[in-house]
Amino acid sequence: MSIQVAPSILAADFTRLGEAVDMVNRSRASMLHIDVMDGMFVPNISIGFPVISSVSRISRKPLDVHMMVMDPGRYVDVVRDAGGALMNVHYEACTHLDRVVASIHDAGMKAGVTLNPATPVGMLEDIIGEVEMVLLMSVNPGFGGQKFIANTVRKVARLRELIDSTGSKAVIQVDGGVALDTAPALIKAGADVLVAGSFVFRSMDPVGAIESLIKLGE
Ligand code: DX5
Ligand code: ZN
Repeated sequence: MSIQVAPSILAADFTRLGEAVDMVNRSRASMLHIDVMDGMFVPNISIGFPVISSVSRISRKPLDVHMMVMDPGRYVDVVRDAGGALMNVHYEACTHLDRVVASIHDAGMKAGVTLNPATPVGMLEDIIGEVEMVLLMSVNPGFGGQKFIANTVRKVARLRELIDSTGSKAVIQVDGGVALDTAPALIKAGADVLVAGSFVFRSMDPVGAIESLIKLGE
């Protein structure tokens, strides 16, 4: 069971963002997770497109852009132009999810659909064949450093079943409160990619922290 890690730069020191990206470049992280918030879909405002463009100029890892915004279909081309490789949109924020997923593909990016903690995995039945990733939130989105919601482990297992039974190629990503104590159950349940913010950036040895999560799957 190999596991990939996507460090979330929301937890980085923004006065030293370049150093944070360099650290991720040096690590075995698979992608760089960027949290975009609009103050409407979630109660916080975080990183915007000019920052994503700057990060993309120095990142050697693909950018995984997690859009915590209402109606994210408005920003597909902007995310692509800023350097996004994968665009994650919330199920709860899209009235016409199928159209948004198609437009992400048309823009040349991989598409991910994200579920809030209270949204059942079953809602994905009719889109699972179209996406490259499903992101399960293991905290209520909006802030780093929150407590992991344990029910996510059962959701990962149910999503694994849905993916395997439909032949979908989607990978399962989990975001929020991921650390060495919460990761093993997620990996066992079938998670493929772990997002980690505080666990990586609050560590004295962030490259080692990424490595320690990867090692859990080896
Ligand atoms: C939360 C964001 C997460 C956040 C995770 O809304 O989507 O990506 O950075 O932070 P930690 O790992 O600290 O829970
Ligand atoms: Zn995120």
